[in-house]
Amino acid sequence: MEKKIILYIATSLDGFIAKKDGSIDFLNLGNKSGESSGEKSKDDYGYNEFYSSIGAIIMGNTTYKQVGDTKEFEEYYKDKPVFVFSRKPKAQKRNVIFVHEDVKEFVKKLKSDTWLVGGASLLTEFLKDGLVDKFIITIIPILLGEGIPLFKGDSKEKNLRLADVKSYDSGVVQLSYQTKV
Ligand SMILES: NC(=O)c1ccc[n+]([C@@H]2O[C@H](COP(=O)([O-])OP(=O)(O)OC[C@H]3O[C@@H](n4cnc5c(N)ncnc54)[C@H](OP(=O)(O)O)[C@@H]3O)[C@@H](O)[C@H]2O)c1
Repeated sequence: MEKKIILYIATSLDGFIAKKDGSIDFLNLGNKSGESSGEKSKDDYGYNEFYSSIGAIIMGNTTYKQVGDTKEFEEYYKDKPVFVFSRKPKAQKRNVIFVHEDVKEFVKKLKSDTWLVGGASLLTEFLKDGLVDKFIITIIPILLGEGIPLFKGDSKEKNLRLADVKSYDSGVVQLSYQTKV
């Protein structure tokens, strides 16, 4: 059976995955810990269930450079191979494998369903070749006004099927779409 590529990503309501300077602090607004009460949200927005369903992770090097050396990286991307796309690949570092390969050829070799983390540049490469099978988009209740857009608008038209909608007390909404079969 073909392995699925799943985009699991968070965006502002106006479609930005990061601010212009690359910062993603607004993602904490989807978490009750961002509120004045300081109460931690029990919601993980399906993260743990999703993480246990995939066997590998893909991200672009700009995203990796931002998170690679943080404790969040150890927390969110542990125990699974993380393939980092870069045109200047480096030697493997723990579970991080740098790749410079045609995305279509790379996907053919995957042995498990795989999480496409982003960012937008790498996503565009996958969309151009119609390689994303499922989109799980977590919408954070904020308008950023400007930033790095989730979709750059240079991929092909594609029909999608709504697979799930979830809403959370925090104001976060999560939409899941599958590519139409
Ligand atoms: N909100 C979220 O859930 C979320 C998720 C992911 C990322 N982000 C944010 O998105 C921002 C980064 O996004 P971005 O679009 O600027 O960059 P990106 O997609 O993360 O990375 C772009 C880099 O990936 C490499 N790359 C892209 N296509 C390639 C290909 N076909 N072959 C080989 N290498 C390829 C290149 O690395 P080299 O320059 O090394 O060649 C390129 O510069 C960050 O601020 C990050 O925090 C947010």
